[in-house]
Formats: sequence, structure tokens, C-alpha cells
Amino acid sequence: MVIFAIESSCDDTAAAVVRDGREILSSVVSSQVFRHVEFGGVVPEIAGRMHCEAISFVVRQALQEADTDIDDVDAIAVTAYPGLIGSLLVGVNFAKGLAMTANKPLVPVHHLRGHIASNYISHANLKPPFLCLVVSGGHSHIVEVRDYTDMRIIGRTRDDAAGEAFDKTARTMGLPYPGGIHMDKLAEDGNPDAFTFPVPKVNGSPYDFSFSGLKTAVINTIHNMQQKGMELPREDMAASIRQSVVNILTDKFMLAAQDTGHRKLVLAGGVSANSLLRRRMDEICRKRGCELYYPELSLCGDNAAMIGSQGYYEYLSGNTADLSLNAKAEKSIEISK
Ligand code: KG4
Ligand code: ZN
Repeated sequence: MVIFAIESSCDDTAAAVVRDGREILSSVVSSQVFRHVEFGGVVPEIAGRMHCEAISFVVRQALQEADTDIDDVDAIAVTAYPGLIGSLLVGVNFAKGLAMTANKPLVPVHHLRGHIASNYISHANLKPPFLCLVVSGGHSHIVEVRDYTDMRIIGRTRDDAAGEAFDKTARTMGLPYPGGIHMDKLAEDGNPDAFTFPVPKVNGSPYDFSFSGLKTAVINTIHNMQQKGMELPREDMAASIRQSVVNILTDKFMLAAQDTGHRKLVLAGGVSANSLLRRRMDEICRKRGCELYYPELSLCGDNAAMIGSQGYYEYLSGNTADLSLNAKAEKSIEISK
């Protein structure tokens, strides 16, 4: 079964053609980051307009690269939630137009389910059930993936997402947006023990994260140093921040794995590209004899191939929509329809 997929939930306009949920026939991503970088973050109004400008070209290119026609695909999948509403609407409406004119089934896909599915493309043998750490710029969850379309949230962030924690602290250090990748590179040459930040206490659930304390501690440390006229050792600061974020993520994830009994562990989302997170999880899983999966680097960030993959499983579960489909800025990963 061949799925044509569209993703436009944030600042990447993407389209892809995917066979049977596992094989990429084409995947095109047009990034807007060069426009948002001057503002230090995504400007929703600009993002929506840029999706409008790019989407026809991206769609055409994805079809051309797969050497196929919209009439020859079996269904059209689109990210319908969650995300920036003005961005989502562009993709959803384009997908509805395609579904209507080509008379194809329309499959709404949850963006975070898509991130999880990027692993099905990278690992042909990976099947649920497993426990997944989904860490992106807007969300951070520990998700029990019981089946392809049956998910339960075990833990979540109480404030900032992991990607946001990287981006906000990176901004304080004067790094360009999105800061996560710059922080990661800088950190490779730094001493992770140069600065110590408080370990957050989260009341209620042992599996919930909190990153706002880290953000405040970093801002205070940098301001203090500036006031004293001290030069910021950028590599050391980046390495210390990265270590703190990774410690929080791995501690909670491994606790959840131990308590739920899952031994098949999966990373997903933009932050799953983080080199320390990958190394640390490799190490922990080797020691504890757990299986570990993460997406190839090209599939960690936003793309439409992952939407085509999840779209396949949503279609098989009967989760299709009619032309009244609307985008939603918020929606739980647990809810299928
Ligand atoms: O999943 P994603 O592409 O978009 C959302 O759905 O939000 O995630 C983007 C996030 C950004 O916060 C970005 O800084 C972060 O992923 N990110 C990284 C790395 N690469 C991207 N964070 C840490 N280390 C990286 N190597
Ligand atoms: Zn994403």
C-alpha cells in the first residue's frame, strides 16, 4: 500500500511517498528556519504564509521523486494535530483538496505518533509493544506503545519540552535558533561537570519531567558571570546543560522502563538526534540487556515520511476522516480519532 503524506505542523513543509509503512519512495523537506532565525524562534504568522508558498512545490517534487502520480497512491495522510494551528491548516487543507480531487481516503495523523513511526522506517524489525521516549521541541512524553495505534502516556513534562529546554538555554548563551543542535556540537568539547544545576523535584508522578528550574539556573548563572565581567566558558556551559537534560530524561525513562517491565526501548523526536542521549542510552541498555532503537539522524526532525509510516497503520486501524477534518493545536497522543 502506497501512502502520500504531508507534514506542516511547525516550520518544515514536507511531503513523502511511503510504501507499506516502512519504505521511503521519496521524502522532501523544505525548512523555513532561515526566516525564523532572525527572530530567535518560530513566528507563527510567517510560518503559515511560508507553508502556503512552499506546499505545492514540495508536493509536486515528492511525487516526481517517487516517480508516481497522486492517482496511483492508495491514501493521503496528513499531520492534523498537534502544532501551530496556522501551519497545520495549510497541510490539512491541501491534503483535503488532494483527497477530494483524486478520490482517495484521508488519514489524519498525530505528529508525535509520526515521530515514533520514524523508527519503523529505520528498523524494519521493530514492532510494538515497546516504551518510547518522545522528545521534541514542543512535547516530551514517555509513551507505552501497546500497539501501532494504541498508546498510553506514562510520564510527561510539567513545563518546558526537552527541545525547548535546549533552545531556551542556548538562546541565553547567544546561540542561533534552534539551539539544540548547536548546543550539542559545542558540548562535545566541554567539561560536563564544570557547572552543576539543581535536580528537579516533581511531585505526583515519578515519571514526569521538569525543565523550568534548569532554565532559570542557567539564566542566573550566566547573568551572574556577566555582572562580574567573567567570560563564559561556552563549551563547558553547553556540556553541563546537555548533561543535566540527558540525566533527567534517562533517569525518568529508565525508571519507567523498570517499573513497567519494558525491555524494548525507543527514542523519537528532534531531541533523539542528541549525541549524548544516544550514547548514554546505548551504554545503559548494553549494561541492562535492553533492546534500544532510535531513528537515523535524517528522520529525527520533522519530515513527512514518518507521517506516511504512521498513516499506514492508522489506515489499517480504520482511523480515516472525511472532508470535515479540521486541524487541532492540541490533542493527546492517546486518542486515535
Ligand atoms: O521534533 P522536532 O523536529 O520538532 C517538533 O516537533 O518540535 O524537534 C525540534 C527540537 C528543537 O527543540 C531542536 O533544538 C531539538 O529538537 N534538537 C536537538 C538536536 N537536534 C534537534 N536537541 C538536542 N540535540 C540535538 N542534536
Ligand atoms: Zn516534530
